[in-house]
Amino acid sequence: MRTDTDYKESKSTEDEFAILKALLDAPDDFVSGSLLAAQLGVSRPAIHGKLEKLREQGFALEAVRNRGYRLSQEPEVLHPALLRYYMQDAEAELDLLYFPVIDSTNSEAERQISYGRNSPFAIASSCQTKGRGRLGRDWYSASADNLYLTVLFEPNIAPQQLQHFTLWAGITICRALQSFTPKAKLQIKWPNDLHCDGRKFAGMLTEAKMDSDSLRSIVFGIGINLNSNPCKFPKELRKVATSLYAIHGHELPINKVAARVLQAINQAYQACIHNKTTETLADAWAPLSSLSGKPVTALQAGTVISGIASGIDASGALLLAQPDGSTIPVRAGDVTLKK
Ligand code: BTN
Repeated sequence: MRTDTDYKESKSTEDEFAILKALLDAPDDFVSGSLLAAQLGVSRPAIHGKLEKLREQGFALEAVRNRGYRLSQEPEVLHPALLRYYMQDAEAELDLLYFPVIDSTNSEAERQISYGRNSPFAIASSCQTKGRGRLGRDWYSASADNLYLTVLFEPNIAPQQLQHFTLWAGITICRALQSFTPKAKLQIKWPNDLHCDGRKFAGMLTEAKMDSDSLRSIVFGIGINLNSNPCKFPKELRKVATSLYAIHGHELPINKVAARVLQAINQAYQACIHNKTTETLADAWAPLSSLSGKPVTALQAGTVISGIASGIDASGALLLAQPDGSTIPVRAGDVTLKK
């Protein structure tokens, strides 16, 4: 049952999507107003009105008499029709819901299931009021320049089959983001953080629900500091966190990046569920690891373990090399670099 405190989903209309699709499909050409009017079955003035609405939403449109309209700039914030367009490009078979503001995209995904929504689906938001991180921490979620994304799957299979899903998702997302920032080396800090030059720019939170011995739902959330300026982060984050904007030196196309990340999550899920990973987890992880060869300290079940990080094993545990030549696997917890 929905309540008055429900957050408002923002949807694009079919007309808005059709106009944007026509403009985006012809990036270098002008699209004639009469063609758009005929395609949508509305008048020229109606098309003019719809284009004005797009301008108000942050789209820059060139208009040239006798030629038509050309899209010269996309909005700098998430936009449901643009996301849908790039998702369709990315062939991700996910329903997508966009909320300008939400408490937490992971919590909204759980609510959507309780309302009866079919899975899989994705939730995207421009601001979270109660963004959640790992180990009960908060996730800084005030900036609309960042990404807050969740995908919910209902696998109904034995949990072992998806035990490495979050690690694979980290790998596929890191590779996908790397293509947007070719000059900077993006890395994964075991188990679920994305780093660049020792600073974190993204974190992942997976929450699973079990039904006797099968995995009922898996809620995968990721927060990515995308186009935000780290100088504006809360003070305690400034020394440890960064953003892809700070790394790359330019803003990235937020809707394209979001669609690409959602596609990467779906790819990782499909590969795990169909057992179709084409490389071993350890091999895929090795070139991306930010910890390899570095002295680290891990806190596992209340015990402090130190060692030189040397990759992960087939179970996804972080291996810490000891002075006597042995290795200790760390299976869960938090890892810090030794000063
Ligand atoms: C961490 O590094 O501690 C994990 C952070 C996960 C944050 C994301 S933002 C989208 C999704 N919704 C949440 O409330 N948390 C995750």
